[in-house]
Amino acid sequence: MALLGVNIDHVATVRQARGGREPDPVAAAVLAELAGADGITVHLREDRRHIQDRDLHVLRRTVQTRLNLEMAATEEMVRIALEVRPEAVTLVPEKRQELTTEGGLDVAQLHPSLESAIDALQQAGMLVSLFIDPDPEQVRAARLSGARAIEIHTGAYCEAPAGEQRDRELERIRTAIVAGHEAGLQVHAGHGLNYNNVQAVLALGGVREYNIGHSIISRAVLVGLERAVREMAALVHGA
Ligand code: PXP
Repeated sequence: MALLGVNIDHVATVRQARGGREPDPVAAAVLAELAGADGITVHLREDRRHIQDRDLHVLRRTVQTRLNLEMAATEEMVRIALEVRPEAVTLVPEKRQELTTEGGLDVAQLHPSLESAIDALQQAGMLVSLFIDPDPEQVRAARLSGARAIEIHTGAYCEAPAGEQRDRELERIRTAIVAGHEAGLQVHAGHGLNYNNVQAVLALGGVREYNIGHSIISRAVLVGLERAVREMAALVHGA
């Protein structure tokens, strides 16, 4: 059975829009776990645009499943991970201007500088996964880096128009899954997956863990809106 990691960054994005206390990503994590999430994923970005350091510390004490910390392989982030000790760390590239993580890590290029971060985190007992594009060269580089897992970036597949281009992207994912297994790596996948496009990736098999955020939080806003309005209408109309 594949596992689902729910990414709750987008809850923190809404909170940060007002700089207040709600909605609380910690409460979202509890609800996600009660609903069947196998893990909670958060990205502590260098610019702290959504998840804050405090969230991470509180989540470490409250998450009952597995905590997966997405982060850049910087000295600061490695220090934080060693302090907080999530079960898993996913190393991602980070550019300040991007709206979300736009491409995979270029492990083939970064490999020497990534190695010490991977080693320090794995020595401390965390499972390190490298977020890479579905490219066999990157899978080989990931194996050489010493990481035990990869997360295949599914963004290009999710954004491709239906038809030949999407089929090609799906085929790249299939090839990367096979290459990952041949390299002895645990294979995860994520980015841009939603209620429509996840089925075809699930059908490929071989992915141990999916990390999904935006589509789940988007759906939560819509399926939860009716109840939220009903409750406020009852207060306003009842006054
Ligand atoms: N995996 C990684 C490494 C990511 O950076 C993200 C986005 O934060 C996700 C999964 C989840 O992507 P989405 O929010 O599009 O489901």
